[in-house]
Amino acid sequence: MGKDIKRIAVFTSGGDAPGMNAALRAVVRTASFHDLHVYGINRGYEGMIDGDLKRLERRDVANIIHRGGTILKTARSKRFMEAEGRQQAFESLQAFDIDACIAIGGNGTFTGAHVFGQEHPMPFMGIPGTIDNDLYGTDYTIGFDTAVNTAIEAVDRIRDTADSHNRLFFIEVMGRHAGYIALHTAIASGAESVLIPEIETSLESLVDRLRKNAKRKKLFSLIIVAEGTPLGNATEIARKISEHISDFEIKVTIIGHLQRGGAPNGLDRVLASRLGHSAVEGLLNGKSDKMVGILNDEIVYTPFEDAIYKQKDINNDLVRMSEILAM
Ligand code: F6P
Repeated sequence: MGKDIKRIAVFTSGGDAPGMNAALRAVVRTASFHDLHVYGINRGYEGMIDGDLKRLERRDVANIIHRGGTILKTARSKRFMEAEGRQQAFESLQAFDIDACIAIGGNGTFTGAHVFGQEHPMPFMGIPGTIDNDLYGTDYTIGFDTAVNTAIEAVDRIRDTADSHNRLFFIEVMGRHAGYIALHTAIASGAESVLIPEIETSLESLVDRLRKNAKRKKLFSLIIVAEGTPLGNATEIARKISEHISDFEIKVTIIGHLQRGGAPNGLDRVLASRLGHSAVEGLLNGKSDKMVGILNDEIVYTPFEDAIYKQKDINNDLVRMSEILAM
């Protein structure tokens, strides 16, 4: 393994995701195994600009593998979008003699890292940490499975009350640009229908489906809606539907940030550990400007450019199956 890298900095950025702490632990412990010094940057790119770094040793990441959120805190930094902010960040990293960085985050985080890497000589590795699962180059992102399970638990509870009152519920889950959480939640909770950003669903077809349900005496319905569908969010869709359907009393539940918190489940802890470990070893093997991911159970390093700009297609077989199973 190359010996050029002696000090690495690690940070979390963008929306937090359950499992970020487990990834951080894996980074620190793998780095320490390779005799590297690790610095944790607080508040993502904001802390990088402000020079808010602290040394992290093996014991500093004890007792965090099970914790949701991120002990390093996170932020969406506007200052880092400007060249001046990035220059300041580079100077802060130089002041701590940092040789390479590891970013745990999503699309916006890697966009920042990629631009930074073009302006400044700093090797960068990304770890996909976002509940949205919307990154090309990995089958799953850290936090997705936990978020889906949180949503499923909520939908199961809503099912009880929807059934008792014969109501139609529109349940909104997160995902402004990606329907993975919605699709998986809908399949696993046996929802009637799912509306996602990637697929155009007409109001007419939805109304038609609900009318058919009412005709065959299906007395309650659960519809999962991703935040950013072409038809609008759950509240907007519920309002439009209420103008056409009077067979059901309509209610809306927004699960919201509940999906972002809580302890990571087993899958996310293992995923985070594997990705954190491989991020450090990838850097030591000379990889940079890349995101580490897992495809078909194999560690893969995808250029940031692809991870950011290539579309991770929604699985159309899953969409079709969810429709068949809901009939
Ligand atoms: O990217 C993760 C995510 O949770 C999205 O699903 C959601 O649209 C967004 O972040 C919400 O961001 P914030 O917490 O800043 O409101």
